[in-house]
Amino acid sequence: MNKPVLEKSDHHFYQENGFVVLPNFISIEECNTLMERASHLVNKYDFATHKTTFSTTNPKHAQAQYFLDSGDKIRFFFEENALTSDGELRVDKFKSINKIGHALHDRDSVFNKFSYSEKIVKLAQDLDIEQPLLLQSMYIYKQPYIGGEVTCHQDSTYLHTIDNNLIGLWFALEDATLENGCLWAIPGGHNNTLKSRLIRMPNHQTKMEIYDENPWELNDMVPLPVKQGSLIVLHGLLPHMSKQNTSPCSRQAYTLHIISGNKPYPATNWLQRS
Ligand code: FE2
Repeated sequence: MNKPVLEKSDHHFYQENGFVVLPNFISIEECNTLMERASHLVNKYDFATHKTTFSTTNPKHAQAQYFLDSGDKIRFFFEENALTSDGELRVDKFKSINKIGHALHDRDSVFNKFSYSEKIVKLAQDLDIEQPLLLQSMYIYKQPYIGGEVTCHQDSTYLHTIDNNLIGLWFALEDATLENGCLWAIPGGHNNTLKSRLIRMPNHQTKMEIYDENPWELNDMVPLPVKQGSLIVLHGLLPHMSKQNTSPCSRQAYTLHIISGNKPYPATNWLQRS
């Protein structure tokens, strides 16, 4: 495949804004294949064993060994509001799961085939990533009504690289709308420095190092509603967020994070592979 998958104008937009939307990057059939596979994985998983919640507004999850050991595994995380105070599911498990992470790309044959497809390899080349490595994958559900807000953040806070060359790929497997919690971003915000960094400590502890306490200028946020099959490319320093899903529709997405393999990977990142 010699034809670029990222046109020059798209590349320029990405460099200027820190993100770019590529409509119809994947087919509806590919979306359906990934959604069906995720359902299959949820279906066969025994949820009674790990009722670990995931919430950006409640960092308890970060302390959980289950989370910190998930860098090279397929693991399942619930919506915070999906559980009663006794840790029981309020609704069906298919309506309770927040995300699956963080190594679907390596541990599942269907996600592996998609994640290393020629089109994505070519995109990494077009984005000028040297020796591209897939570091992390996540399948995000954003459930109807209970799909929680993801507060404004830079992905490099959670996956730090020496050159800040992290790139996120956000595949819309369903339409992402204002109502079901589409992404929002600050155009050009990737020119900011890194505000904070999650550091992995011994004994399954983490701490957040703060470099800049000034809040994000949320008035500068623009919504990025996209159609099913769209790809949003996100610079690791781009401030972005998504609001709570207030609609009866889920907003399923698959994400990949790519780094360059030409620099050492920090041992202080939470995500480590055994
Ligand atoms: Fe993010």
